[in-house]
Amino acid sequence: MSINYYNNNAENFINDTFYLSMSELMNEFLTYVGNTGTILDLGCGSGRDALEFQKRGYKVFAVDGSKEMIAHTSKFLSDKAICSTFSDYETNIKFHGIWALASLLHVPEADMITILRKYRDLLAEDGVFFMSFKNRKNNYEKDGRCFTCYTKEKLLSVLSEVGSLDVIKFIDTVDIREGREDEKWISAIVKASDR
Ligand SMILES: C[S@@+](CC[C@H](N)C(=O)[O-])C[C@H]1O[C@@H](n2cnc3c(N)ncnc32)[C@H](O)[C@@H]1O
Repeated sequence: MSINYYNNNAENFINDTFYLSMSELMNEFLTYVGNTGTILDLGCGSGRDALEFQKRGYKVFAVDGSKEMIAHTSKFLSDKAICSTFSDYETNIKFHGIWALASLLHVPEADMITILRKYRDLLAEDGVFFMSFKNRKNNYEKDGRCFTCYTKEKLLSVLSEVGSLDVIKFIDTVDIREGREDEKWISAIVKASDR
């Protein structure tokens, strides 16, 4: 259901987000990915971060369920921008990094464990998985989008239920969009346990 929002509000969403800089979180993530490798931008939106990873020399694939977001992202990623839902996406690639910034928050809570296990299993050996969520106690719906929210404690609990994951770190931030500074975010960087 959330995907319709991004198709119907594509121009505004791209204008509001394409020029934001996520370099602080990205630099932290890339510390663990290393200097080279293949990155999946999962729920890429405008493609802002996929483009930045590409500029920094990584091989990048971007997945989003919104055809409008993929139309924008494919301008610089061409056929490596793939229109697919999180649950439908299929690949044989193993990723050194999976970057899910503010995207898995649209996965209904009942499906979260299945989705997290699926992407954990797409990590290369020593690959790392970044995910971020609104740091709130309660899930909610707004403008046709559902938001699954986590406190650090709840996220830790879901990650241990997913299993075979080691948490590298949690990162607390506030929203960088003007006027949204009261919105707190919780991010996690995790890796698959030794397999
Ligand atoms: C809040 S936006 C974040 C976009 C981008 N990561 C960013 O930080 O600007 C969430 C994105 O997830 C995508 N999305 C939501 N639900 C999805 C699903 N089930 N499968 C694939 N993509 C989905 C939306 O189309 C949207 O582009």
